[in-house]
Amino acid sequence: MGETAEFTTTELADWGWPEVQALGGGAADPFETGSLNVTWRPKDRHFGVWHEGRVVAHAGFVVAPVEVDGQRFDVAGIGGVIVDAAMRGRGLARLAVTGALDAARADGLDRALLFCLPDRAPLYAHLGWLPLPTPVTADQPDGPAAVPIGAMWKSLTPGAGWPEGPVRLHSLPM
Ligand SMILES: CC(C)(COP(=O)(O)OP(=O)(O)OC[C@H]1O[C@@H](n2cnc3c(N)ncnc32)[C@H](O)[C@@H]1OP(=O)(O)O)[C@@H](O)C(=O)NCCC(=O)NCCS
Repeated sequence: MGETAEFTTTELADWGWPEVQALGGGAADPFETGSLNVTWRPKDRHFGVWHEGRVVAHAGFVVAPVEVDGQRFDVAGIGGVIVDAAMRGRGLARLAVTGALDAARADGLDRALLFCLPDRAPLYAHLGWLPLPTPVTADQPDGPAAVPIGAMWKSLTPGAGWPEGPVRLHSLPM
């Protein structure tokens, strides 16, 4: 998949909480979303950036249905983006997310969606993501609920737009 002299991006067969913790530098809540009380959806596919024989960055994706203004379409839900705590700020989140988005595009998806805390939004904006009107309503164990952090979307194919209106994600958020 993606390759530079030092870093190679591949799809991963396995990814779970121990691997997340290994990249999180010992943080109890590596994504800092624990206090939001949101039930998140596990991702179906995982993409890792390899460096010196180990995975140093990860992004996951899952196909999820969205409804906006009466239009229903599938998106690539991106989540679980994490970079080894000692290697942040070197473009590895960009590589991991690009790996996931390339796979989503290859699967025929033309829009991606993610949720992020406000201090991560400028990073995603730099990578071409656009803010959506919030809150997005998503499934939760007790029924639909507003997701209490911002949502952003990115076009994966030329000309793919996002309709105006409140966004309903027919899935747990990712
Ligand atoms: C958030 C996180 C994934 C970012 O990883 P990172 O390795 O520092 O990110 P990158 O270096 O790949 O940054 C991607 C791009 O955004 C840019 N960027 C980073 N912070 C930015 C900011 N505040 N404003 C604008 N651009 C920014 C970088 O310069 C880089 O651009 P470039 O590729 O053109 O040089 C990392 O801090 C992390 O693992 N945090 C803990 C887990 C987490 O919060 N995940 C996010 C879930 S939404």
